Amino acid sequence: MYKLKENDFVCILTGAGISAESGIQTFRDGDGLWENHRVEDVATPEGFIKNPILVWKFYKERYAAALDAEPNPGHKALVDLEAMIPDKFFLITQNVDGLHRRAGSQNLVEMHGRLSACFCIKCAKHFQLTEINLKPALPHCPACGNYLRPDIVWFGEMPYHMDQILATIKKCTVFITIGTSGNVYPAASFMAEARKIGAVTITVNLEEPLNNQETQHFIKGKAGEILPGLVKDMTAELG
Ligand code: OAD
Repeated sequence: MYKLKENDFVCILTGAGISAESGIQTFRDGDGLWENHRVEDVATPEGFIKNPILVWKFYKERYAAALDAEPNPGHKALVDLEAMIPDKFFLITQNVDGLHRRAGSQNLVEMHGRLSACFCIKCAKHFQLTEINLKPALPHCPACGNYLRPDIVWFGEMPYHMDQILATIKKCTVFITIGTSGNVYPAASFMAEARKIGAVTITVNLEEPLNNQETQHFIKGKAGEILPGLVKDMTAELG
């Protein structure tokens, strides 16, 4: 496997697969439903307008499940990697479960939002779920009284931190994709961007992702089993 050099800058993209071993269900394994819901019903602005109570119920349950889960050795291996190259590490996650943050990752962006937060559809003020009254089926904004919505980037909406993500990918020399099926854009295009500028590309996944043609090194298996050894191996020549 590729050995990191002093000047390497590592960019990592993670998806639902890295949290699977923490007990969080992925999106596209199995029957195409997300915890028995159609994606259009619970992960689009139109779904929220149609049935905001259902959408809130769904995300409250996902939030509770995420709080019950613990980071696994895959999340922890990325914390160890960052500790070894703190100024040359950038982690992009599509996950909304907060497990990377709880594991201790620092230079991290959560491009699809966070289960732990929400914002007002009128005044746009953001809140942690711990700051609001979650008892009503449709929680209200403490500032202006209008409806709140989960701070999740739904289909048809612009992911967060895109400027920072694209700028950082432009300077990376190693790009690692972990536990993502390559179905959802723009995230699925990041590895191709890194490849264009000559970065070494590595994928760790249970099965070949849709965009696997951009990968120079494909490692098939579970993130929690592979990442601790991979990080050790890749950093073996660093001082
Ligand atoms: P998917 O469910 O589409 O893909 C998860 C990938 O992880 C699959 O390729 C699995 O084979 C793989 N996998 C499962 N268990 C694994 C393990 N233990 N180790 C390694 N790989 C494993 O999830 P994402 O690609 O993350 O968007 O989905 C992308 C986006 O689609 C999500 O962020 C979400 C969803 O709609 C929003 O919520 C906005």
